[in-house]
Amino acid sequence: GLFDNLRKLINVIDELRDVGLQQYIRLPRIAVIGSQSSGKSSLLESIVGIDFLPRGSGVVTRRPLELRLVHVPPNERQIKPYAIFDVDKSKKWDNFDKVREQIDLLTDQVAGKRKKIINDPIILTIFSNDVIDLTIIDLPGITRIPLKDSDQSEDIERVTKDMALSYIKDERTIILCVIPGNQDIANSDGLQLAREVDREGNRTIGVITKLDIMDAGTDARKMIMGLEIPLKLGYVGVKGRSQKDINDNKRVSKALDEEKAFFAADKVYSTMDPKFLGTKALTNKLSSVLFYHIRNILPSIVKEIKDKLKECEDRLKDLGPALPREQKDKMQLIWTMITDFTENFKNTIKGKYDQRRS
Ligand code: GDP
Ligand code: NA
Ligand code: MG
Repeated sequence: GLFDNLRKLINVIDELRDVGLQQYIRLPRIAVIGSQSSGKSSLLESIVGIDFLPRGSGVVTRRPLELRLVHVPPNERQIKPYAIFDVDKSKKWDNFDKVREQIDLLTDQVAGKRKKIINDPIILTIFSNDVIDLTIIDLPGITRIPLKDSDQSEDIERVTKDMALSYIKDERTIILCVIPGNQDIANSDGLQLAREVDREGNRTIGVITKLDIMDAGTDARKMIMGLEIPLKLGYVGVKGRSQKDINDNKRVSKALDEEKAFFAADKVYSTMDPKFLGTKALTNKLSSVLFYHIRNILPSIVKEIKDKLKECEDRLKDLGPALPREQKDKMQLIWTMITDFTENFKNTIKGKYDQRRS
C-alpha cells in the first residue's frame, strides 16, 4: 500500500545519502523547529514511540540530531528495536537508556559541558518493526538570551536561527513547526522562521504542544484548525509528557494512552475531527505528506543527477581516457538505481490506477 511505496522511496533517498550524494544534490527530509523547550524532542520521541532522547526544561538539545527511522516489516523479520550511531557503525545499541546517555556524551564531546550549541549533527539510525520510515532532524531550539555561566555567545539568537535556517531553507525539507499551545501563536519563533523560507506554507506542518497546560478557560481549537494562521498542510494538536512525567520516568507508550484519554475526555477536543488531534494523527499526516512530497520532487532529483552525471562525463572526456573512473562509476551506479526505481515506481502507480479503473 501507500506505506510500502513510501518505504521504497525513502530507502532510495537514504541510500543516496549514504553514498554522499547530499554534497551534490539536496535530498528530502523533515526538520523539527521551534523555540527552546517548546516540546520538540518530546514530540520526536512520541513519533518514534521509543524513549531515547535527552529532553527537559532548558537547553538540552545542543547539536542537531539526524534521525533515520527504518521500518523492518514484522512478517519479514521480528526484531528488538536497535540503534546505530554513524560515528561507529559496528556497534548495535538495543538499550535505549544507553542511547540517550551516548547522545549526551556525544553532545558534551563536541559542544562542551557549558550549554554551548553547535551545528554539527549527530547521525542516528533506528531499526524497528513499529516505526514508519521517516528521516527527521531534531534541532536545538531558538533561543534569545545567552545563559549566565555558559559558553553561549551573545548572538545566540542568530546562531540558533541560522542553524534552523540552514536546514529549512532547502525547498526539499518539510518543516515540522512546534508551537506551544500555552503561548500566543502570533509570537511563535518557529512559525516566524518557517515563513521566512516558506511564505505560503507549502511545506510547513504546525504542531501545537502543551494543550494540557493552557490557561483555564482557553483552548487551541482555532489554532489547530488553522483559523488564526493558515498553513496549507495544516496543524495537529498533541499532549506530550510534562516535566513531572519525565522525572517519574513515564514511558512513551503510557503517555500515548494518556494523550488519547485526554482528548476523549475534553469538552472541546472530543468534538473535533480526530485527524487534528494526537501523535497518531500526526504520524499519518507526516507519512502521506512525505510520500507526495518525495513523489513530486523525484523527477527534479533525477534531472539534477542527470545533469551532474553529464557534467562529470564531460569533465572526464576533457581529462582524457587514462584517468581513474571511480567517481564516474559511482555516479553511473546511482543513475542506474534511480532510473530503475522511477521505472518501477511508475509501473506500480500505473498498475494501481489500472486496477482501480478495471
Ligand atoms: P525542546 O527543548 O523543544 O526539545 O523541548 P523538550 O521536549 O525538551 O520539552 C521541554 C519541556 O516541556 C519538558 O519539561 C517537557 O516535559 C515539557 N513538555 C513538552 N511537551 C509537553 C506537553 O505537551 N505537555 C506538558 N505538560 N509538558 C510538555
Ligand atoms: Na528543552
Ligand atoms: Mg530538544
